[in-house]
Formats: sequence, structure tokens, C-alpha cells
Amino acid sequence: MKKSLQSLALVVATAVAASVVEDCPGYKASNVVKTASGLTADLKLAGDPCDAFGQDIPDLKLLVEHQTESRLHVIIYDADEQVYQVPESYIPRPDPSEHPSNRSQLAFSLNEDPFSFQVTRRDSGDVLFDTSSAQLIFESQYVRLRTSLPADANIYGLGEHSEPYRLPTTDYRRTLWNSDAAWIPRNQNLYGSHPVYLEHRQSGGSHGVFLLNSNGMDINFNHTDSGEPFLEYNTIGGVLDYYFFDGPDPSAVSSQYADVIGLPAMMPYWSLGFQQAKYGYWDVNMLAEVAANYTAADIPLEVIWADIDYMDRRKNFVTDPERFPMDKMRELVDTLHQRHQYLIMMLDPGMSTNTSYEPYLRGLEAGAYLENEDGSPFRGVQWPGEVVWPDYNSPEGKEWWVQEMSIFFDPETGIDVDGVWNDMNEVAQFCPDIQCDPKQHADDTNTPPDPEHPPRPNTGRPIPGFPDSFQPDNGTARNHNSNNNNNNNENARSLEYRQQEDAPRWDKKGLPGRDFFDPLYKISNHLGNISDHTVYTNVTNHDGTRQYDTHNMYGLAMVKATRAGLLARRPNKRPFVLTRATFAGSGAHTAHWFGDNESSWEHYRASITQMLGFTSIHQMPMVGTDVCGFNGEAQELMCARWAALAAFMPFMRNHADISAPVQEFYQWEIVAESARKALAARYRLLDYMYTAMYRASTEGVPSVNPLFFLYPSDPATFGIDTQFFFGDAVLVSPVVEDDAQSVEFYLPDDVFYDFWTLEAVRGRGETVTRDNVDWTDIPVHIRGGTIVPLRSESANTTTALREKSFTLVVAPGLDGKASGSLFLDDGETIGGDSSDISFSWDGSELRAGGEFGYESGRVVEAVVVLSADGKETIEGEWSLDGEFTVKPSS
Ligand code: GLC
Repeated sequence: MKKSLQSLALVVATAVAASVVEDCPGYKASNVVKTASGLTADLKLAGDPCDAFGQDIPDLKLLVEHQTESRLHVIIYDADEQVYQVPESYIPRPDPSEHPSNRSQLAFSLNEDPFSFQVTRRDSGDVLFDTSSAQLIFESQYVRLRTSLPADANIYGLGEHSEPYRLPTTDYRRTLWNSDAAWIPRNQNLYGSHPVYLEHRQSGGSHGVFLLNSNGMDINFNHTDSGEPFLEYNTIGGVLDYYFFDGPDPSAVSSQYADVIGLPAMMPYWSLGFQQAKYGYWDVNMLAEVAANYTAADIPLEVIWADIDYMDRRKNFVTDPERFPMDKMRELVDTLHQRHQYLIMMLDPGMSTNTSYEPYLRGLEAGAYLENEDGSPFRGVQWPGEVVWPDYNSPEGKEWWVQEMSIFFDPETGIDVDGVWNDMNEVAQFCPDIQCDPKQHADDTNTPPDPEHPPRPNTGRPIPGFPDSFQPDNGTARNHNSNNNNNNNENARSLEYRQQEDAPRWDKKGLPGRDFFDPLYKISNHLGNISDHTVYTNVTNHDGTRQYDTHNMYGLAMVKATRAGLLARRPNKRPFVLTRATFAGSGAHTAHWFGDNESSWEHYRASITQMLGFTSIHQMPMVGTDVCGFNGEAQELMCARWAALAAFMPFMRNHADISAPVQEFYQWEIVAESARKALAARYRLLDYMYTAMYRASTEGVPSVNPLFFLYPSDPATFGIDTQFFFGDAVLVSPVVEDDAQSVEFYLPDDVFYDFWTLEAVRGRGETVTRDNVDWTDIPVHIRGGTIVPLRSESANTTTALREKSFTLVVAPGLDGKASGSLFLDDGETIGGDSSDISFSWDGSELRAGGEFGYESGRVVEAVVVLSADGKETIEGEWSLDGEFTVKPSS
């Protein structure tokens, strides 16, 4: 009842406001001054304020900078410079003076009265952005800007979402407000916010538009009364800080965006291996048992994950003394390392306020936490009960976090962990709204899993490959008599972490006098008000900004601190962090998984569209989904298909909820078979994918490509989101219908080669049907014109894989030529030696050249040249430590 009254009030308020919005006067530009790189102007409110959702700000400024040939920066901000702007401590800005450009591909034109602007392509005159169809509204808690769109625009991005990759453009809304979005609801705000889109036009190529604004916003797509399509930003704060990218190749848009928000982090080689997690793994023995079971089933396993189960009553930095005793965890990690396997553990942001909990007390002492208006730490509810949350963007919060990580993960006295998983960092909180008293929830959540109802206790059977203490005769971890020295180790390693020297240029703390809980403009947050189920929006960060403005960047700040914590322990090894919450720029620090999906065909399909959004638009190349689904019971045949599909996604981890039955691949024979086959292909392709990740992290090009990125003038590809290129050469066309054994997929007008049989297939720009696709099969093709380096055989760990020789598969294009590349290094050392080898095939000869800085000791033992008439294999031994040429005899 309360809810429906509330929504009625909302509808009425929105309707009233809509009519007020129509009367807003807009702005008038004056004092236009040309500068070396663009112009500046003053914008004055052109009439009586409409105060639609707050107060109109009368005086604004406009700054236009052609920062590079392909990038235009346009910012509209308040003349008094009080309105909040995204601090550089979250996203450092590119220095425009480093890129003087007077040959911009993009033109800016200004209409002074009423104020509006257009961005056009200089060569073709194509209008890319045009704000003239509605007045600019710039208020204290509401900012609106509308741009016209062409009919049937192809728009991608604006994640995180589980929508089709190409977004609907009629009567459609994307809301950006990071939320704990269990079951990833459709058309709602999910865990991350990426206010960037790419628009693709068949004749004019692609361009990109990034609004650097971290406030909650609705981005509405619709048509005017006269039928003109538009895209409209409605934010509840911040300034209009736009970057336009001219492309015109789709992947050039990706690279140009990366120039602004930062290139993605290069991941360690091992993190491309297959990984297994589950919420509810009962004890340390069970982690060992799962690893051993994979070995017994002859399925590769690289990483085992410890969810919050390992924590003592859900508290960060302390292990459960009974089920995950510290000494046994140390033994686990040692054994995994001997087996060339890795351990990743969870750290959540909520810190228990239990007064005997030392990490919390140290944080209190350090002043590490977010604060109420009176300066006391803000309290709420998370897994351990009542918690406080660190301000990861503050020096105090970062340093304390790095120090706690250094203690807990100290290789000598703690757990020598290999990577860290950051969850619940949207921030998720269990207090539903601002009426909540955290004390009343204090004991709700902090109990460990019910011993009567574990998803499956460890079996008590022998665990081959693990030490005696893991074997049944020696008791299980449950009664293990541990000396649980939970890292109250005062001899913390000295901090190697150095605080970043920020010289904030964008340091506006935000307008005073705002309503932080209940702004008049309500974004369509599916969790309710903006303070519901999260840290309240009036909460203060140490730099004086409020969660109202910075909420969407909490996860970004957390992963930066976590990464620093890993680097402090192993300064020259690439850190691996996985996060749930993201913002623009997160890819520079972390991998991402798509959160709490469902074991359903719908979410199997959604994993493809989600992946494409992150890899091609949001500059997050290392992404994947909970394979076989998190919530609910995974069905055998669906899981078999999912294992095969996920083998062609960059981050591959099987994970499930505590209430879900176990779903490791070895639980069903058909799933095991599918996983073995797909993982063998994945591992053979691992260096090819690692090379794609290297390109992503150095050039900003996608690790996984949508079809139109490679066939930008073929309109049939623009809406395809059930197929994709793994890298830029391997076309994956999974079965997508529920329980189906056939698939229709599109082959562009080009030559392809079946990955499994190596037979040539001439694509005709048509959909083809593949029937009788076995439950363990997935259609995969190599695109003509490419050379794919494969390991000659697969292996069960990436360490063993790196011992194998290579086979080069030459897949000539329609012109008979092909090219490819291979990046080699030791897989983990930052700034270590590397080789970047390029291969080319001119129709008669293969040449390998490039840079050879890394002695891999590996050779190419076969070159397989494909053609319509069959394949020719040339065997030999060509070292990858220098140039070589291979000429077939025929
Ligand atoms: C959240 C995460 C999920 C994790 C669980 C327990 O729901 O999304 O992956 O297993 O918390 O930590």
C-alpha cells in the first residue's frame, strides 16, 4: 500500500515536473573567445528560472578543446565552480597540452541564442551530436541535455546492463546507479555505471560520446512529438563534461576512449586458465577436494576461490578458526602452488564494528572510514552484521587497507594469496532504507553456514595430491586443532605503497544546500530511493565530497586500493583483482564478472551481450560470467553448453550460490566431456588470447569483438549479439536457443575455416543453419586473412601449457594473404622481457619478424596452411627467439 502511494506520488511529481521542464528558458551564449585549441564562452540563463527540480544556475561557462585529431572535449560547468566534478583522484584527465591539435576531425559549432551546439565530422559534415531540439537545463540537482539521433540509430554501451548489445532507441531508459542487482534484472541499473556510448553508421563509421559524470542519471531514448529520435541525459548533479571520439573505425573509438579513462590492466597469463568457486564451500578440505576432483576428472583447473565462507563470522582479514584455520590455509596455498595452481580470496568492503576485531580498530585509529555529517564513522549492515565502510579514495583509507592486506596476505606469516575478489562494492548494504537501525540487524548475517545444511559437506574421502593433514585419517579441518594466529601480526611489512600525488584540478566538493536523500528528480533506481540498500547519500568522503556524487565510483576506488595492496606484497608481479562494481576507468585496475546471474538459458545468452558491452565499449577486456549460473539449479545440458561457450570468454569461472546445488564440471559426465573439449581448445588458444589481452592493454582495442567491429559496412552484423570474435580471428557461434541442438548463425561475405575440422567455408553474407550440434560441441571458425598461433597440445595447468611447442595456423583471406601476431613474456612480471612477433603470409611464404626480447625456449613445430582444397602441414623446428621464414614445398 505504502509502495503504491509512493509510486503514485512519483508519477504525479514527474508529470508536474515534465510540464515545468517544457517552460525552461535555456541559456544564451556570450563573450565567445577563440582559443588555441577551441573556444570559451559564457552561458546565461535566458529567462525566468523554471526551477523544475531545484534551482536553475544562472551563470555557466563553456570550454571547448580540440585535444587531439580525433578527440574533442566540451565541458559546461557553473561559473562559480562550486558544482561537484569527478575528482582526478578517481579519473586523472588527459593533459590537453600534450596533444596540441589544430587538425581535428571533429568540428564544433555553437548557436549562441538559444544556446545549443553541434559536433560534426569535418570531412563529411555528418552531424554526430546536436543539442538544439531541447533547452539545456542546468540546476543544482538536475541537469538535462538532449541530442538528436538519426532514425534507427545503432547505439552500444551505457552499461552495465543485460539488454541486447545494440540498445533499443524508442521509449527506453538506461539508469546508471550502481546497485546490488541480484538476478541481474533486465532493463534496470546493475552493478556498474559507464556513461559512454558508441554510435555506428553504415556509411559514416563509428563515433563515441563519453559523459564524465559520476552522478546518478537516467539516459532516455525517445522521439519528440514530431517524431525526431533523441537521446537525453538527466543527471541529478555534476557538470556536463563530454568527450567526443571520431573513430571512424569502431575499434578506433575504443582506443580513443581508452586514451581518456586509461588503458586496461594487463592480466597475468595464469588468470586466463579455468577457475572454480562456490559460495558455501564448507571448509578448507573442500577447497582441496574440489581441486583434486578436477585433477581426477582430467579437466584443467588453474584457480580455486575462497568466498566469504573462509572468514571468521564473515569478517575480512580473519579466517574461521574451525573450518579454515590459518595454518591449514597456508598449507593449502603451498600445495596449490606446488601443483601450479592458484588461490583467490574475497575481501568485502564492510568492516565489522565488533570491538575485539583488530583490523577494524586499526582502521578506526587510522581514520579510514566514511563519515556521517558529525565526523563519526557511518554505520550500516553487511555480511558480518553492523559495519563501517572504508573511504578507499582517501589516503588514510587506502594506506590502512594496503597495510591490512600486507599483514593478512604476508607470505611468511599469512596467506600467500594470488589474487583478490572485491564484492558488494556498489556499495551493497542490508539496511533497506534510511529508517534502518543497524544495531537491530547486527546479528542477522554474521553466522557461518548452517552445519545441518551445507550445500555439500566435504566427503571425508582421501584427497589425492594434498598433504596428510587434508586426509581423512588426520581429521577434517572441522576438528583440526589449529594454532590460528589470525594475523594479529604487529610486525607488519613496511608499506611499499606510495600515495599517489594528486594535483586535483577538478576538486569541486559540490554545491551546498542540496537534499542528499530525496532530490526532486528521481532516477529510476530499481532498488528505490538513492540511499536504499546502500551507503546513505549524505555520507561524507574525506575530501569533503558526498556519496551522493561519488556513489558510482566506490567500487573503482576499492579496486585501486586492493591492487595497491597486492602490489605492496609482490611489487613486480601483475596483480589480479576481480570486482563486481565498476565505473568508467575500472578496467585499468581490475577484471569484472557480471554478478549474481541465474542458471537459465536467458542468462547464458545475456552473458554474451554483457561481455560485448564490456570488451568493446567499456574498456574492460577481462570479463566473464558465473558459468552455469549463480542462482538456482544448473541443468546438465545447459551447463554442458555453458562450459563450451565460456571457454571462449576472457575470464572463465564456474561459481554458484550457497543455496544452489554443486555444479563443478565433473558433476556430470556430459558436462565434463564438454569442458574437456572446450578447455583443450581454449588452452591451445591461450597465447593467442593473451596476445589479444596485450593489444587491449596497450592499444585499447577489444579482446573480444562484436561482428560489426570487423565488418563495419555490413548492416546485417550491427545487431548480432549471439555470436562474437574471441580476439579478432576466432568466430564463435554458440547454440543459443533453450535446449536446442541446432543453431542459425551469420557468416559475413568472407572466407572462414572451421576451427575443429580446418575445412574452408565460404561465407555469403547469409545465415546458415547447423543441425545436430552435439551437447559437447560449439561451432567455431577462423576468419580468413588471419594467422592463429596455437599451442600444439593442451595441458591441465597453464604452467604445463607453457612447455608446449606452437603450431601456426595460416588462414588465407579472399586475397590469399594472412597475418597475425604472438606476444610472449613470462606471464607475470611487470616490465619483464617480451617478444612481440608478427607473422605474415603472402600466398607462398610465411615470415616471422618483429621484436624478440624474451627467450621463450619454445619453437614452432608445424605450420598449417589452410585453403579451399584442404590443408598443407609443414613440419620443422623454428625457434620463437628470432626471425624465420617457412616455405611450403608445393
Ligand atoms: C554476492 C556475490 C557472490 C558471492 C556472494 C557471497 O552475492 O555476488 O558472487 O558468492 O556475495 O560472498
